[in-house]
Parts: sequence; structure tokens; C-alpha cells
Amino acid sequence: MSTPLLELQDVTKRFGGVVAVNGVSFDVGEGELVGLIGPNGAGKTTLLNCLSRMYRLDAGSIRFGGVDIAKLGRHEVARLGMGRTFQVVRPFRSMTARENVAIGALFGSERARLAPAEAFTVADEVIDLVGLGGRAKLLVDELTVPDRRRLEVARALATRPRLLLLDEVMAGLNPSEVAEELEVVKRINASGIAILVIEHVMQVIVGICPRVVVLHFGRVLLEGDPATVLGDPRVVEAYLGERYARRLQEARGG
Ligand SMILES: Nc1ncnc2c1ncn2[C@@H]1O[C@H](COP(=O)(O)OP(=O)(O)OP(=O)(O)O)[C@@H](O)[C@H]1O
Ligand SMILES: [Mg+2]
Repeated sequence: MSTPLLELQDVTKRFGGVVAVNGVSFDVGEGELVGLIGPNGAGKTTLLNCLSRMYRLDAGSIRFGGVDIAKLGRHEVARLGMGRTFQVVRPFRSMTARENVAIGALFGSERARLAPAEAFTVADEVIDLVGLGGRAKLLVDELTVPDRRRLEVARALATRPRLLLLDEVMAGLNPSEVAEELEVVKRINASGIAILVIEHVMQVIVGICPRVVVLHFGRVLLEGDPATVLGDPRVVEAYLGERYARRLQEARGG
């Protein structure tokens, strides 16, 4: 078997007394589409921040394309071909969608360093890929919420990643918008890019990801195909526990 594109070994991240990510190990293969799910606070975003080198690991190791990235900077990791979105969207608001994406292209991975004119060509390609075609010339402020999410994905794609990390890009979308977004994710994956897609709502993931990793309290609860994951009582319990806690809080008027 060939070496996985991404290899996590015992990845651990603490915030004071909270172990947000606790000994997490799994792989993502070249061109694979893997879902990462788990209830609120499970550690999904923290893990993603460890991968993209926003956070320093407290223990464990991460290899990307066979390279140990634990000591590399954020931009070095991006240049190796790891692209990501942010749960909180933060584009350059005074620019058009197209300009935002072109900037992503300029700061792309090493294998795809571009001249400014080429950056716009790449921008137009990925804008089409995410379904933003007709709105490329709009200012960010003029875009709808779903279109801003698409813009985030386009910005990440413009860096020409080998692996794309998506953090809750479907949050706040209605069911038909989610369905469209899932098609976009499938299309990106079909173009040969590996994707690790994080979602709180597991139904979103199981429809498109052949393999799913479930995080709970910072640990891998289990990983497997969607049917196995959905049918596992531990997963049901993790999500029910969360719903129960929320109801309790509402009943208390919180
Ligand atoms: N910067 C931080 N400082 C302190 N604690 C943090 C920080 N970021 C996250 N945590 C804590 O780490 C745990 C994991 O949080 P994280 O945001 O990674 O969860 P998540 O799975 O992404 O949740 P959500 O579905 O709500 O996005 C939580 O207990 C959270 O309160
Ligand atoms: Mg999160």
C-alpha cells in the first residue's frame, strides 16, 4: 500500500486543563474523501487547527505527503498543498469575489506559483467549480450567506491544494443549499483533491463520504463506513447526550 497523504499519530492538544484533542490517530489517503463528525466541543476545529499549524501540538505527530509538519509554519504547510476554510468566514470585504479568490491563487502551493494574470485564470476556474460563476464580480458584502461559504471554498481551492480541509461549510444553509454544496464537494473530490470535511450534522457527511471518523471528547470514538457509524449505539449516544444537555439548558431558561 502507498503512504497515506495525511497521517495523524496520537495528536494531542490541551488548553489549560481541557484536553481538546486527545491522542487522535487516523489517515487520509491521496484523493480520498473523509468525513470528520462529532458533537459540539468534540475537538473537530481544534484538530483542524493542529493540522493547518495554527496550533502547536502538545504531543503526537502529523505527516503530510511523507513530511513531518510538526515544526513547519502555517505558510509552509499551505505551500506543501494543504488548503483550508475557516468556521468563521473572513474574506476581504472591499474586494470582489473574483479578486478574493485570485489572492488565494497568488499565495498557492509551491507546485503552482503563479503570475497575477494566471491567478485570475485559476480564480475563474475554481469560481465555476464551486458554482459562483454568475456572481464573481460582486463585492463580498453583496453576496448571500451560501455564496460567502462558496467563496471560502473557492479561496481555499485557488491555492491548488492536494488536501482540502473544510470546516462546517454547510452551517446555516437550508436543505436545498446543503444538497448543492454536497455536489460541489463531490465535484472537487472528483477533480483529484483529497478532502477532510468537518460537519456537526452527521447526515450531511454520511451521504457523500465513504469513510467517516467520529470524534467525541477529543478522542476517536470510531471510524468506518457511514452505515457502520450511523448504526453504532455509541455514536447515537454521543449525539443524544448533546441534545439532552441542550434541552436541559433550555428548560432551565439558559
Ligand atoms: N482557544 C481555546 N481556548 C480554550 N479552550 C478551547 C479553545 N478552543 C477550543 N477549546 C475547547 O476545546 C474543546 C474542543 O473545541 P472545538 O472548538 O475544537 O470543538 P468542535 O468539535 O469544533 O465544536 P463545534 O461543533 O461547536 O464547532 C471544547 O471544550 C472547547 O471549549
Ligand atoms: Mg468547530
